[in-house]
Amino acid sequence: MAPIDPHSFTDSTHPVTAHISLSLYLDFPSSTIHATALLSLSNPHTGPLSLDTRSLTIKSVLDPQSQAPIPFSLSSEQDPIRGRHLTLSLSNHSSFLVVYSTSPSSSALQWLSPPQTFNKTLPFVYTQCQSIHARSVFPCQDTPAARVTYTCLLNVPSSLSAVMSARHVTRRSPNEASLSHAPPPPHATWGAEGRAVEEFVMDQPIPTYLFAFAVGDLGFREVGPRTRVYAEAAGPVLDEAAREFAGTEQMILQGERLFGPYDWERFDLLVLPPSFPYGGMENPRMVFLTPTVIKGDASGAQVVAHELAHSWTGNLITNKTNDHFWLNEGFTTYAERRIVEAVQGEDRAALNIGIGWKGLNEEMERFKDNMEFTKLKTNQEGVDPDDVYSRVPYEKGFQFLWRIERQIGRPAFDEFLKKYINTFKFKSIDTETFLDFLKANVPGIEKDIDLELWTEGTGIPPDANEPVSNIYTKIVSLANEFKLGRMPREDEVADWQGQEWELYLENLPKAVEASQILALDERYRLSESKDYEVKVAFLQLAISAKCRDYYGEVEKTLKSVGRMKYLRPLYTALVQGTGKEEEKILAKRVFAEARDCYHPIAQGVVESIFAKHL
Ligand code: BES
Ligand code: ZN
Repeated sequence: MAPIDPHSFTDSTHPVTAHISLSLYLDFPSSTIHATALLSLSNPHTGPLSLDTRSLTIKSVLDPQSQAPIPFSLSSEQDPIRGRHLTLSLSNHSSFLVVYSTSPSSSALQWLSPPQTFNKTLPFVYTQCQSIHARSVFPCQDTPAARVTYTCLLNVPSSLSAVMSARHVTRRSPNEASLSHAPPPPHATWGAEGRAVEEFVMDQPIPTYLFAFAVGDLGFREVGPRTRVYAEAAGPVLDEAAREFAGTEQMILQGERLFGPYDWERFDLLVLPPSFPYGGMENPRMVFLTPTVIKGDASGAQVVAHELAHSWTGNLITNKTNDHFWLNEGFTTYAERRIVEAVQGEDRAALNIGIGWKGLNEEMERFKDNMEFTKLKTNQEGVDPDDVYSRVPYEKGFQFLWRIERQIGRPAFDEFLKKYINTFKFKSIDTETFLDFLKANVPGIEKDIDLELWTEGTGIPPDANEPVSNIYTKIVSLANEFKLGRMPREDEVADWQGQEWELYLENLPKAVEASQILALDERYRLSESKDYEVKVAFLQLAISAKCRDYYGEVEKTLKSVGRMKYLRPLYTALVQGTGKEEEKILAKRVFAEARDCYHPIAQGVVESIFAKHL
């Protein structure tokens, strides 16, 4: 047994899966998927083969030709991080069929009942597989070290439609013949009245964490030659989103200029219900987004720029394991800011760098007792990636690449990036591979930059940089003046948008008086901002100052969004520290009432915050 990834049971001596054909029957009343998965290996194999599963019931494993059963065993112990180890016993098999079903608690899936949707009469379901949740949808070698192509049939109620991170082939009646090689699951209702089959193909190899679908009452608007925006057809979101994301094609064109051709054909966007746990997820061909990015001021473009940038860094070149997650997020944060700079200008990019810089410094505080997670290359043996998710890989990774850019100059760095992408596309790599490539292509770089300190060291290296720009510097100094009791004047904030306020609030001292909080809000109404970045940054300060006037608003916020970027700081502010009895009771009550509306991943994250502080 030689594991290749601390988060997977995949064994280095076994062949990898090259292709997966899935048939999924979505049963909304029971929040269950009845399924078959046909896995094809790169080579025929005899002996044990290890797969990852979580919350799956394995009914049988069959030889796809003869239908003869293949012996298998599922570990009786559930590993708290990796899930259950499924071992098959193969005899020169190059493929096998697993008949299984998911459970309502499958961690990748959020099933929304009709009242939790805009439509109110139809249900909704979607996946979030990064980092290690694909195994709760289908059995697989759930490591980004391996890449698969797939086909997928989704059998859904005919009142709903489906989208995937794959090419849509057709929508048809369940009884028509299909492209997919996986037979329908042995479930009597596959061909029943009132069902439809949506068929998808992904013929570009992807790591399993990029598998994604969503099913609901979906509509779409065309916003560009290769971009549609999808969202629930009912409600205002679709039109608002079409407006917000009108500039997407411009960003794709800038991305292509900077990083080479866009390889994924379509770049569609799906706006999910408010419980979506992330800002965005770079599912190929179909990025998933939280509705909180729609603010009516085009700032949602930053999140789209980020997910778009993953099309090159992350989806083309993928981190081999989560230990090297910075290769995905650090490169993408760098690429995102180059796109933002090209379409929105240098000042906007500097503001984003400044918000990131502040965030990076805060994470140093969060991890002061666990410095491992202030490194770029981490050791995640025995660690749940959802528990240590932070801005470090994003912002320290960004700083590292920005440092290299400063060293060799932008033209040379741009050249280097294009070559890097071309060399490693459709591959999974680790930090060493990147460093070797860097040293080979930029001879002598290790004499100018301490590459080991940057990638293996803790904390922030001395040659990291705070951005310099007039507006950034102005905002930070205004925030410093607040400590001395000066509030910004109306004329000073007249043209501030959400990000300016966010930077301002994040630079205020953590311990401000309740009276100062109230005065600031009286003048600028930050607690009522429609921009959640602003509202949450303000509410965090209010909680720290025990300004109880705002607890109603805190509760409302925690009950209306499930994005972890907001849940994490608000719940943490409520429960951490001493003398916070009222706040702790509030946190527990709100979570008990809101829990069912959160995605399983977000539920887990709030529970681990409670476990740490309560
Ligand atoms: N890939 C991430 C989201 C993610 C990371 C999901 C780890 C699961 C595990 C995505 O690209 C991302 O970084 N989203 C950010 C967007 C932001 C940096 C613009 C988010 O959700 O906040
Ligand atoms: Zn990202």
